[in-house]
Amino acid sequence: MTIVVGVTGGIAAYKAVSLVRTLVLAGHDVHVIPTEAALRFVGTPTWEAISRNPVEPGLYDGVAQVRHVALGQAADLIVIAPATANTIARLAHGLADDLLGNTVLASSAPLVVAPAMHTGMWQNPATQANASLLRARGAILVGPASGPLTGTDSGPGRMAEPDEIAEAALAAVRRADLAGRRVVVSAGGTREPLDPVRFLGNRSSGKQGVALARAAAMRGATVTLIAAHVDDGVPFPSGVEVVRVETTAQLREAVTRHAEDADAVIMAAAVADYRPTEVAERKIKKDRHGDRLNLALVANPDVLAELAAAKAPGRIVVGFAAETEPDREALLALGRAKIARKGCDFLVVNAVGWHEGIASDDNTVMVLDRAGDIVIEASGSKLSVADRILDATLGTA
Ligand code: CTP
Repeated sequence: MTIVVGVTGGIAAYKAVSLVRTLVLAGHDVHVIPTEAALRFVGTPTWEAISRNPVEPGLYDGVAQVRHVALGQAADLIVIAPATANTIARLAHGLADDLLGNTVLASSAPLVVAPAMHTGMWQNPATQANASLLRARGAILVGPASGPLTGTDSGPGRMAEPDEIAEAALAAVRRADLAGRRVVVSAGGTREPLDPVRFLGNRSSGKQGVALARAAAMRGATVTLIAAHVDDGVPFPSGVEVVRVETTAQLREAVTRHAEDADAVIMAAAVADYRPTEVAERKIKKDRHGDRLNLALVANPDVLAELAAAKAPGRIVVGFAAETEPDREALLALGRAKIARKGCDFLVVNAVGWHEGIASDDNTVMVLDRAGDIVIEASGSKLSVADRILDATLGTA
């Protein structure tokens, strides 16, 4: 999702840094528009570093790209935190003498406003009337909270906590189109032990599968995430049942069991095709094998093909195909052969390489249906790609 965060000139601007960080870590494309006054509290380099996007706060910066309109049109959501009394007044009256004012006017995205000011200013009838006007037009006001203010006073006026603002902001755009659906998502890479200290694994980070679980849960689905190895620092979404597995056998058992009453199973996990024929009870020692060690491997069951073959009517089974084929037509041909072989309803095809696809925060995918036709192509953050995959496969576009 593309989110514009407007930051205005209050001391709580420093707390907006963590709001921006939360939204970025959740996979959103965040563009910060600080007002001139906000820059007296927190500077441009901080906003650029934390949002991972350039920040050009001036109305007359980048005029050729018509930014005063473009940002507002691109935004799926606008959050203003902190919103000073002055900003609330200006928003209420449609003033547009800076980039933020223009962006808000040019946008039809939901507007979330987190007021922050002294109690006296908040309770002033002028501010209250302006806040009511914004609410009446559909803006969502989060806070202010009550508590100690910057000076010695205490009372309503503190900016709501960044996590609360993020939660309210995301809830404002949340579609509940998957409410009542039960979705099982597998994610991460399975690991096949060789001995007590070693395994055969793969470089899957689990990010795309976890993003799918997060996106489905955000859209109201009841989600079970079967998580094989997922990289450190990839947070699991809240409100999702997480089942940890290690090997393909464990993943197969968990997925099959949870699939029984699921409406959809999405196999984003990178499942090991082979496992060692034997797992050594004790560490494999070099002095027994010398310069060459041959490992004997045996094929694992194909969980996806099993799920597709045994699926109840109405259950949707989605597979993934991460391929190292750089040529688009050849990649499509591999995808078409794979969906025919696996028998699933949809196949999400993406190109991977040493530096592409796997650990990255972004992805580029094509979704094929049973006929081998491309249903959608999507590119962007793994969370936005997850939403597009859900649109295409769970039929709620
Ligand atoms: N998969 C599975 N069980 C396996 C291997 C893979 O369920 N033993 C699933 C993966 O979760 C993924 C899809 O099958 O959704 C495709 O995996 P992939 O490794 O690309 O397919 P393979 O059939 O193993 O073909 P390849 O020879 O390309 O590895």
